[in-house]
Amino acid sequence: MADSDINRFRSDLLVWYDKNRRVLPWRAGTGEVADPYHVWLSEIMLQQTVVAAVIPYFLKFLAKWPGVHDLANAEQDEVMSAWAGLGYYTRARNLYKCAQIISRDSKGVFPDQQKELKALPGIGDYTSAAIAAIAFGKPATVVDGNVERVVARYFAEEAPLPDSKKLLKQYAAILSEGRADRPGDFAQAMMDLGATVCTPKSPKCAICPVRTACKGYESGMAAGLPRRTSKKEKPRKVGYIYWIRNIKGQVLFERRPERGLLGGMLGLPTSEWVIVQENMEPVHLDFVRNKKNNFCLDRNLKVFHSFTHFDLELNGLILNDYSSDLPENEPCFWVEERDVFNLGLPTLFKKFVNLMLHDEGSKGTG
Ligand code: ADE
Repeated sequence: MADSDINRFRSDLLVWYDKNRRVLPWRAGTGEVADPYHVWLSEIMLQQTVVAAVIPYFLKFLAKWPGVHDLANAEQDEVMSAWAGLGYYTRARNLYKCAQIISRDSKGVFPDQQKELKALPGIGDYTSAAIAAIAFGKPATVVDGNVERVVARYFAEEAPLPDSKKLLKQYAAILSEGRADRPGDFAQAMMDLGATVCTPKSPKCAICPVRTACKGYESGMAAGLPRRTSKKEKPRKVGYIYWIRNIKGQVLFERRPERGLLGGMLGLPTSEWVIVQENMEPVHLDFVRNKKNNFCLDRNLKVFHSFTHFDLELNGLILNDYSSDLPENEPCFWVEERDVFNLGLPTLFKKFVNLMLHDEGSKGTG
């Protein structure tokens, strides 16, 4: 691609961005420099979550912890509950670790180089490039799903994702590497173009600022790009979820182990989750197994949740008037019913709590 074509692409896109940029709470105003703490926090949240879902969480975090030292001085449990519902909880643990490193080791100052940023917990290729470009004006190549779609169409690349990832990054680099002219705005303009004009379905080519040299538009292929190798069907797992109440009407909760899915988050006790196979039943939790006969299994009390690599079905079991001692070494504890909604639960558990507490009149609680 000729240098003049690259410059043309960049200037057409930036002119469009100046008029059409989305107003987002982590963005600096036109001509202002973005705060690295805001950029870092938003980019970690945006890694696997869409903009609309991130906005309220970003605002909540900023209100609670206005700067990186505030976040570093919070309790980890508090950070985990504030993150509850956003998913991919490793991000929250790494966010907290990273805040502590920045606060403790570098006086609250984020590094401005991609390599140093990448050495921090939770910051990989994408996020280091985004922070370097948006917060520090470095000409880094920032590639998310939106950017992949824009370049796949612009260069009419027909090789399917995920194998074409590297190739698409090279295309994106042609347009951004070494270009010192407003790198942060350029990165965000590519994202905004992908999110609002070069949309997955029915791209709005008629209003696209870079349509004239877009090979996907010219060939009529744009809407079908990027191609994707068809995904394998997700496996399905099943298990039990327990609603255990003591005689005071308190409900049993646990903090999940640090490692693994929903690691470090609060939740209701569950059995192991097993892949659905013929003649295989999930085994009940040890400390409730001897109570099994007192359980009420209600066929209507089920919760479904889709994780990245599998779908989950948990069947609800209710046990009232639980009177045995709690098992030693289990990180479980009783919670007053009225406090359950303030715990900061991941969505899976929130769904079940909603079934239990909003719909209890219609359930046999055994
Ligand atoms: N997605 C990820 N980062 C973003 C940003 N800075 N602006 C808009 N969408 C994004």
